[in-house]
Amino acid sequence: MNVTVRAAAKINLHLGVGAPRGDGFHPLTSVYQAIGLCDDVTASDDESGWDLRLQVSDWIDAGAVPVDSGNIVTRAASLLARHHGIASDGHLLIEKAIPVAGGLAGGSADAAAALVALDRLWDAQTSDEDLLAIAAELGSDVPFALLGGTALGTGRGELVTPLADAGTWWWVLVPSLEGMSTPEVYRHFDKLFPDASPTPPPADELIAAVASGEPHRLARLLRNDLQAAAIDLRPDLGLLLDEGEEEGALRGLVSGSGPTCVFLCESADHARDLAGALMRRGHGIVLVANGAVAGAHIVGGNHG
Ligand code: C5P
Repeated sequence: MNVTVRAAAKINLHLGVGAPRGDGFHPLTSVYQAIGLCDDVTASDDESGWDLRLQVSDWIDAGAVPVDSGNIVTRAASLLARHHGIASDGHLLIEKAIPVAGGLAGGSADAAAALVALDRLWDAQTSDEDLLAIAAELGSDVPFALLGGTALGTGRGELVTPLADAGTWWWVLVPSLEGMSTPEVYRHFDKLFPDASPTPPPADELIAAVASGEPHRLARLLRNDLQAAAIDLRPDLGLLLDEGEEEGALRGLVSGSGPTCVFLCESADHARDLAGALMRRGHGIVLVANGAVAGAHIVGGNHG
């Protein structure tokens, strides 16, 4: 038997960050959107034992992804198996199109996809509530990767609530060949903003803009509190955002902790034009994706 599950990359339309909590995590007000740039995870039990394999798009550095117990998918399998008191058996294949360490929650997408795939493979019938709790244990962005769509994230980002979204939002993405470390960007945020409020900035106006479906309105309200820290560590990102806006993007934004930069466009045609312009400026990898798309869901297999 085998089952294939697809999970999407996320961008943060609003990432409000507060001063670190006692446990070291930062309180967030995050508006997540799942976009059509996806990893697929296939789980099969054709042979016994545990095995993890990886296939990546040709522009992704496969060496940056661990295929041992350090992979979040292996941790996802162990937690789900422990929850049900069973052995963590299965062959997993990750087919990766989401950039690694890119601020797009690609690892979280893989973890969410693995949870859904193994739940089906093992016929474990985990409740949604338990799946979300296991996801939260794996990482702050993993519950959203299960949910998809457009959603509000609070706590450290793991408490997710779906939001009304009237738009089809078109994005141009420029990944970077060199990833960034999320903890390092958060540490740099603390250094730059030692007086940050313990309460993260709210997202009410942006949430209303998402519900309106109006891209110019949303563009004005996009916000990422980690952007200054990411650009301070990687000044090239600031130049890239300027380039995208010069070429006509409604707004450019660093995605999450970076380094991927995303540019909001008015329409599919506008996104394709902007992507072409950025490629002519010498950016090798430029992607177009729209949102919001579904969270982790089964797309194939012979799972019955
Ligand atoms: O939850 P996750 O494992 O994705 O977090 C990775 C790292 O990012 C954490 O160890 C922490 O350094 C930082 N982080 C944070 N506050 C959050 C989420 C992540 O400081 N809300």
